[in-house]
Amino acid sequence: MKVLVTGSSGLIGSEAVLFFNKMGFDILGVDNNMRRDFFGPQGDTTWNLQRLQKMTRHFVHYDLDVRDRQGVLDFFSREKPDLIIHTAAQPSHELAATRPFDDFDVNAVGTLNLLEATRRSSPDAVFIHVSTNKVYGDALNHIRLRETETRWDFDDLRYFNGIPEDFPIDNSLHSLFGASKVAADILAQEYGKYFGLKTGIFRGGCLTGPQHSGVELHGFLNYLVLAAMREQPYTIYGYKGKQVRDQIHSYDVVNAFWHFAQNPRPGEVYNLGGGKENANSVIECIEMVDAKTGKRPKITYSERNRIGDHICYYSNLKKLQDQYPGWKLTYSVEQIIDEIIGAIQDREV
Ligand SMILES: NC(=O)c1ccc[n+]([C@@H]2O[C@H](COP(=O)([O-])OP(=O)(O)OC[C@H]3O[C@@H](n4cnc5c(N)ncnc54)[C@H](O)[C@@H]3O)[C@@H](O)[C@H]2O)c1
Repeated sequence: MKVLVTGSSGLIGSEAVLFFNKMGFDILGVDNNMRRDFFGPQGDTTWNLQRLQKMTRHFVHYDLDVRDRQGVLDFFSREKPDLIIHTAAQPSHELAATRPFDDFDVNAVGTLNLLEATRRSSPDAVFIHVSTNKVYGDALNHIRLRETETRWDFDDLRYFNGIPEDFPIDNSLHSLFGASKVAADILAQEYGKYFGLKTGIFRGGCLTGPQHSGVELHGFLNYLVLAAMREQPYTIYGYKGKQVRDQIHSYDVVNAFWHFAQNPRPGEVYNLGGGKENANSVIECIEMVDAKTGKRPKITYSERNRIGDHICYYSNLKKLQDQYPGWKLTYSVEQIIDEIIGAIQDREV
């Protein structure tokens, strides 16, 4: 089996490389380190690429830009992968506003290049597209909420177990990032429904893990733990720090892709996050890190929330669990934080 991972030096991509390497598959990794271009030196993923090269035996890296249409078409006609895990992206909704062309070209056009290349050269392959909960936009913020001492939560029984896939995506503020990801999400669905390609679309909640090159604009938990351990400044933007995100470890994410790949349903959409059990507010996460390390970031509170930020989001995992009962969450938020702390300690000694 030949697996192509785009964004292979990033959080989810690198986890996919390790996952499929362990299974003995041949892995082609495509990543041009554009995260550094987007986020500066802190976003540089070279360390992660070097780590993969040391840890794997079946992995070859290609410095290919997914925006390079001819390059992508040629690559596919040469390599003909059996499984495509597409994680390369401009992943920040705030950054998109300052670089709208790059955001759309990477997220939407890059995805189209890969889908069309798959249709032409690997029509039987499974194509996993990593989408985002930002496709739902801020309409979620109109769900009735209740406030507890440390978090917001849904006060509407329809969302007791989280946000399902049929939540509307219209009439909502998405950010330009959300819009480029909607385009990619719908394209991936369409290549499944219209052309019969085996596409699976996974709308991520808060995807996390130790190998994230966390920066303020992307990689929430990783960046928070790093700021706490270094006792650096950390700004909470709005909602009293009680905004809720559902954390899922990158291993559990890739394991869901693998379950889908073994029994694909063309064009299906799944919400994929930590769900209700792994949902925590920002201030709850700060307390958890403090309890483990005795350290906290130097917190500044900004009344201004991030545009389009969700006040409360957790994924309803029912569809995924019903269709793929073998898949389960294996990491709690506590375990994820432990791993991130360990990885930061290893890197800093
Ligand atoms: N991390 C999260 O919390 C989260 C949440 C929801 C959805 N997602 C989605 O999951 C996917 C993976 O996210 P991640 O957290 O692993 O991001 P990441 O930034 O860690 O990894 C993305 C990788 O893609 C590479 N890349 C960017 N542009 C490229 C291009 N033009 N050509 C080739 N490579 C390119 C980057 O260098 C980076 O290594 C993205 O689609 C993202 O939108 C992430």
